[in-house]
Amino acid sequence: MLGARKVYLIEEPIAAAIGAGIDISKPCGNMVVDIGGGTTDIAVISLGGSVVSTSIKVAGDKFDEYVAKYIKKKYNLIIGERTAEELKQTVGCVYPKIQDNEMEVRGRDLSTGLPTTIVIHSSEMLEALQEPANMIIDAVHSVLEKTPPELAADISDKGIYMTGGGCLIDGLDKLLQERTGINVMIAQDTVSCVALGTGKALDNLDALDEKSRR
Ligand SMILES: Nc1ncnc2c1ncn2[C@@H]1O[C@H](COP(=O)(O)OP(=O)(O)OP(=O)(O)O)[C@@H](O)[C@H]1O
Ligand SMILES: [Mg+2]
Repeated sequence: MLGARKVYLIEEPIAAAIGAGIDISKPCGNMVVDIGGGTTDIAVISLGGSVVSTSIKVAGDKFDEYVAKYIKKKYNLIIGERTAEELKQTVGCVYPKIQDNEMEVRGRDLSTGLPTTIVIHSSEMLEALQEPANMIIDAVHSVLEKTPPELAADISDKGIYMTGGGCLIDGLDKLLQERTGINVMIAQDTVSCVALGTGKALDNLDALDEKSRR
């Protein structure tokens, strides 16, 4: 290659951790759950590298799919992808809300073929999104189970960091906290953590272990 000296591939969860402001060069354990559109990446990071990790294809897009599937089944109504995403972001939740919100949506009635408007409540979204939320929580549990005890103890002291746009779904932090008994924090600038972290990582390559900067 002309001009390029070296090419670095930085694992997404590591970039997310750096972007979230975690000092990953220390010998203690940090858990990052990065929920994007297509995938949820869960990693325990220590000494600049990931110790245990997993990646599942359940993230923001899957939540949208479950919203659309629920509405089709309950109301016999087909809604578009953008409507499903808007519903998720506006009234979607995975933990019971004190105040129920609602949103009007337009779709096509399957029996008449005509455009129809219905009102969807957040309590319905809670029902619709339970399954994908549980899949993410199960994946976090399985990573915690495989985590060496000292690192697991660090995580339970310091908490779990969530990054990525998908983690913004209402109540996911509470649900994960309740199910794991570990404090859950949503990183600042959660949507841009990976990009921020990749930039910072390139400025501080020393902090990454061999494996993480192949
Ligand atoms: N306020 C919000 N509430 C719920 N979901 C949200 C919110 N804002 C963004 N999202 C969701 O976040 C997802 C995109 O997140 P992000 O930008 O981190 O993904 P990505 O990095 O492009 O995807 P991947 O990491 O899978 O490649 C989309 O599914 C989007 O609907
Ligand atoms: Mg991402």
